[in-house]
Amino acid sequence: MADRPRIIGIDLGTTNTLVASVKNRIPKIVPTDRGNLILPSVVALSGKGELLVGGVAKDQMVTNPKNTLYGTKRLIGRKYQSRVVDDLKGYFKYDIVEAPDGDAAVTLGGRIYTLPEVSSFILKQLKTIAEQFLGGPIDEAVISVPAYYTDSQRQAVKEAGKLAGFNVKRIVNEPTAAALAYGFNRGLDQKILVYDLGGGTFDVSVLHLTGNVFEVLATGGDTFLGGVDFDNRVMDYVLEKFWEETKVDLSQSPIAMQRIKNAAEAAKIDLTLIPNVVIDLPYIEERKGKPLDLRIPLTRENLNALTMDLVDRTFEICDRVLAEKGINRSEIDEIILVGGQSRMPLVQQRIQEHFGKPPRKGVHPDECVALGAALLADSLGTIDSVTLLDAVSMPIGYALPNGRVRRVIEKNSIIPLVKSFRLPPPKDPGAPFIEMDIFQGDSDLMVDNEYLGTLRVPAESAGRKIDFRLNEECLLQVMVEEPGGPRRIELATRDTPELLKKELARVAEERAQKAEQSASSPSSHQEGSGLFSKVKSIFRRG
Ligand SMILES: Nc1ncnc2c1ncn2[C@@H]1O[C@H](COP(=O)(O)OP(=O)(O)OP(=O)(O)O)[C@@H](O)[C@H]1O
Ligand SMILES: [Mg+2]
Repeated sequence: MADRPRIIGIDLGTTNTLVASVKNRIPKIVPTDRGNLILPSVVALSGKGELLVGGVAKDQMVTNPKNTLYGTKRLIGRKYQSRVVDDLKGYFKYDIVEAPDGDAAVTLGGRIYTLPEVSSFILKQLKTIAEQFLGGPIDEAVISVPAYYTDSQRQAVKEAGKLAGFNVKRIVNEPTAAALAYGFNRGLDQKILVYDLGGGTFDVSVLHLTGNVFEVLATGGDTFLGGVDFDNRVMDYVLEKFWEETKVDLSQSPIAMQRIKNAAEAAKIDLTLIPNVVIDLPYIEERKGKPLDLRIPLTRENLNALTMDLVDRTFEICDRVLAEKGINRSEIDEIILVGGQSRMPLVQQRIQEHFGKPPRKGVHPDECVALGAALLADSLGTIDSVTLLDAVSMPIGYALPNGRVRRVIEKNSIIPLVKSFRLPPPKDPGAPFIEMDIFQGDSDLMVDNEYLGTLRVPAESAGRKIDFRLNEECLLQVMVEEPGGPRRIELATRDTPELLKKELARVAEERAQKAEQSASSPSSHQEGSGLFSKVKSIFRRG
């Protein structure tokens, strides 16, 4: 045991990153930053040109926003030319640019960094910390990712791990890791629902646990629903109240906005424990040379009213996921809460109302994903102590000339899996190659899905069998039958296909037209509504 290579489990979160290791079969979190167990997922460049990671990087968010990268988990593994990246461009303070390979990238101090590079800075820091804490080199890791991550996002996280010097033994879905932390070695036979409301995303998975067999029955979520949306509601409220009292629009001041954002989050967290708080920000502005202070009380009832619809949305998603597999709410034996935002009393109360039972206590909402990743990491070296039967969260298919997607792999199929079909003829008769643009996503429309890449095979292969294989990490491999036997083919290119470019341009134009129409409609000039939309555009998806 002693000379086995040491391996850690990493939860690379939108807001916070955690690392855990297993000793004598017990997983424990490694303290990472200033004595804390979490490392903020922030990378920055200081005024002096030093690269900062974690708490120190987060500290300079207000003063040096252009060179402070946060929330990059939303960008990693995405094409620059995509709807999601188009949306996100307006939300982050730092610049998002196109890397030479067409992926989204970011700039820091005027230099372009790929997103795997940015994540690798966080992972490298974790590696150093874990090595110091555990004493000795650590070269292997299991890294968790959201269940809804596409093939490209998973590949990009693997790449980040590699850049940080890890041999990434496995990518595991976050809810599955959480389930492991809950059920490992407990000999359970239960259906559980993992409700993960984190900083940026909501994820739900239903699993069947039988001993150490963890089978994912259904999974779903919303990539744009998390703690930051709750903070924004509080920010909107604060801005409106301040406007009512002073007729000063603080949304014009980036520094004031950053202070309000921090205070809004802190107030939200305090309201988990206490029923009332006062948001107190002295000298938030100046008027005629005199300081203006901001002092706004907020009760838990206020917060609940401001965010009720967000909480309701999580339950709509839970119901949809259950309905997809025809599972009744009453069949769920336990509800496991994961993610910092799930601590909100309203969430816990609504769980009780919705499922008729309280959520399970005793699973740490911040730590369980990292702990589960560490347990899986540890078990990889031993003889099949854990069996994970995970599921695909989003269908995979190829684009048709009409801009729609023909599905090959359906949602919720158990992985690993193989789906075979016959290669269609080339799009243009007489072309030397058959080209297939591969997409992953829930929509039937290509433009709303993520482009994974293009396969290219000689035209004479038309009619031959082609296999789409998903391995246990939910990574895609393609095999084509040839006279000499099956041959693995790699994606020939990840350059955005012309058809997708056209569709994206069309969608962008439609959106611009809509924006123009609503800008000229009288309602958008009403008092108050302007503030609301500003908060949205500046901070919505941190
Ligand atoms: N006591 C609390 N009450 C309410 N919200 C909280 C509390 N503690 C933390 N949060 C919120 O939880 C969020 C962070 O959660 P977490 O660390 O689980 O996210 P993450 O893992 O980084 O994100 P994701 O899983 O979406 O990638 C923040 O929005 C934070 O404000
Ligand atoms: Mg998380």
